[in-house]
Amino acid sequence: MKTILSVVGARPNFMKLAPLHRALQGRAVRHVIVHTGQHYDAAMSQAFFADLGIPDPHYNLGVGSGSHAQQTAEIIQRLEPVVSQDRPDLVLVYGDVNSTVAAALVVAKLGIALGHVEAGLRSGDWSMPEEINRIVTDRLSQLLFTPSSDANENLRAEGVDAGRIHLVGNIMIDSLVAMLPRAAALDAPGRHGLRPHQYAIVTLHRPSNVDDPETLSELMGGLEDLTARGPVLFPVHPRTRRRIDEFRLTSSSHNGLRLLEPMGYVEMLGLMASAALVITDSGGVQEETSYLGIPCLTARPNTERPITVLRGTNRLIPSRRAALVPAALEAWGRLASRGNIELWDGCTACRIAEVVNV
Ligand code: UD1
Repeated sequence: MKTILSVVGARPNFMKLAPLHRALQGRAVRHVIVHTGQHYDAAMSQAFFADLGIPDPHYNLGVGSGSHAQQTAEIIQRLEPVVSQDRPDLVLVYGDVNSTVAAALVVAKLGIALGHVEAGLRSGDWSMPEEINRIVTDRLSQLLFTPSSDANENLRAEGVDAGRIHLVGNIMIDSLVAMLPRAAALDAPGRHGLRPHQYAIVTLHRPSNVDDPETLSELMGGLEDLTARGPVLFPVHPRTRRRIDEFRLTSSSHNGLRLLEPMGYVEMLGLMASAALVITDSGGVQEETSYLGIPCLTARPNTERPITVLRGTNRLIPSRRAALVPAALEAWGRLASRGNIELWDGCTACRIAEVVNV
């Protein structure tokens, strides 16, 4: 029986793994899951495994946090013996986090076939660690599973052979489609005392937004201004929480904002699906809001997901109070129709399973 080994490590990997794990069940495949431990807080990791119905990983490498070099090196050192011992026929990596590129290096050097789920995305911004991770991972992968045709164009422009590229659609949307009924049943807005489409929800965690005191303070100021329009909920990523504390941004001037603990997948989906507006710097949230038809403002100068601007509800804004507030007031409540991007249909994992299960 063929063995496929998946390596995941950080929160945005888990919603990409879940549908593929389901799609491989019932096929003549042994699917081994390795969690690097890049994310380890219960709210960042176990909560997602539980919400998404992913079984416990076969291996947890427990690497934890560190500088890029430390974290990447730890993953490389701890993953190599696992992959050498298991000798899978194929290793799958997901997205663009440090666990993705570290696993790709290990697998390529062991001469084992590598597949990249969510290949070909490019922001053109080399100051983002994710851009480096994407480019290196794609270069090392034999199978490139792309979410949209712009990703195919990026890979072709880099000289990748067309035979390696498989346009399969957006696997995150598989998780969204599968979980939407549960999210609706949870009534997350009601649990937070909110009425549908009367509130904004925020996620911010990019180093460029949260590691610089002036930028984070500008963003927090803009969000505070926005509370005059309606409730603003902000589930705070651990990196951002550390910075808010370090820069002492929890003063009374930010009291109108609801700063919350990181949220599970279903609750967050339920809140996004009924929001008047989402403000983010996450890649996945740009896609989810585009699918849901909820207006999204992305506090970044660029995006590796241009289709969300061209065909979805996304708009890029500078990370400045003076830009955020008018854009948010303008976008508030401008709902669009749901799900009209090709192959963002809930069936991506099955298309990948068809390719890998030959
Ligand atoms: C990582 C990814 C980023 C992704 C994000 C999603 C890289 C380079 N970055 O960023 O692409 O969008 O995950 O969440 O891979 N921490 C905790 N508990 C945890 C995990 C992290 O407290 O479970 C704190 C630690 O202080 C850590 C910091 O968050 O140093 C950053 O974690 P790290 O995984 O290095 O990067 P993220 O900012 O989470």
